[in-house]
Amino acid sequence: MILQQNKSLLSYNTFGIEAKSALFAEYSNKEALVEILDEYHRTYSHLPLLHIGRGSNLLFLSDFPGLVLHSRILGIQPLQPVDSSQFLVRVGAGVVWDDFVSSCVSRGWYGLENLSFIPGEVGASAVQNIGAYGAEVKDFIHSVECLSLSTGEKRVFPVEECQYAYRNSVFKHELKGQYAVTHVTFRLSQHFMPHLDYGGLRAVFESQGISEEELTPQLLRETVIGIRKSKLPDPHILGNAGSFFVNPIVSTEQFQRVNSQYPTLPSYPVDESHVKVPAAWLIEQAGWKGRSLGSAAVHHRQALVLVNLGGATGQDILRLCEAVRHSVLQKFGIDLHPEVNFIG
Ligand code: EPU
Repeated sequence: MILQQNKSLLSYNTFGIEAKSALFAEYSNKEALVEILDEYHRTYSHLPLLHIGRGSNLLFLSDFPGLVLHSRILGIQPLQPVDSSQFLVRVGAGVVWDDFVSSCVSRGWYGLENLSFIPGEVGASAVQNIGAYGAEVKDFIHSVECLSLSTGEKRVFPVEECQYAYRNSVFKHELKGQYAVTHVTFRLSQHFMPHLDYGGLRAVFESQGISEEELTPQLLRETVIGIRKSKLPDPHILGNAGSFFVNPIVSTEQFQRVNSQYPTLPSYPVDESHVKVPAAWLIEQAGWKGRSLGSAAVHHRQALVLVNLGGATGQDILRLCEAVRHSVLQKFGIDLHPEVNFIG
């Protein structure tokens, strides 16, 4: 028996929800995963299957009645150069995302600095297309190696086949629940080219009298970490899953309608006929910033983050989510969609 039974998932979800899974297994290579899947298909195929990363984007609404899988495939392996400045690095899906970014910066492999300190693991980064400070991981992914959960066969998805979009990929839609990511190959650069146009990064360096020429990758990473720490609650202290909602993309007409009533509504262009508006702004204006409902609260420094004040259940967080959604819909006519995956 390689499957554990009745496993607590408390340390596998950053919301700090007490949930259990009927079955649980971790693996450190593809062969071990194939063995686990064999046992699952032989004996438990009537039960649902869920592959998790670090649980930083999950909300358990109840105990999970099936098998939870977690990768411990490690390793950061530089591959061949693509050209004189770019090269490929193959990384195990179970590597902690920020350990990878930290290792890149210290080895002189550049590109990922703006994505510093995002919680989660490398496998999930490629499913979720994580992003921050104007960067998205899709721009650094070369290919994603997967194993079919039904047949155990290996399949490599070149980045063009991953259908990446804002916080989205083929692994969240057509292929949802069908594959486990085993490795991700990244395309990184030997040259440091800072991107400072988003989220006030340039202003931070200007205020410190640091010019773009003087900026080092280490300093950029430390600054991004500093901003994240100042805005986002530490899940070890206050359970949370980062942004709870995605920033809604609305038509230009809808934006103009809302903007005529609320002229300070910020917006970021998406294409000719759509803009993205910050969900945090809508939630704050709807009066929810810092408010709680039982043991669930809207964080007082970043309205996009819902937090577990201690002992909250998944249902408590869901109740708050629905209340916030309802208020925003009533006030602005905009329906917010959770970024967090609900399980159960
Ligand atoms: N704002 C408010 N009230 C708040 C917070 C923000 O009104 O309490 C408004 C401000 O106008 C601000 C704007 O919202 O200018 C945007 O805020 P911020 O730059 O903090 O970013 P965000 O849109 O709230 C996104 C990502 C974050 C990422 C930051 C920084 C999504 C869903 N979230 O948040 O990602 O760290 O940008 O790039 O796109 C995550 O996905 O878990 C996450 C934390």
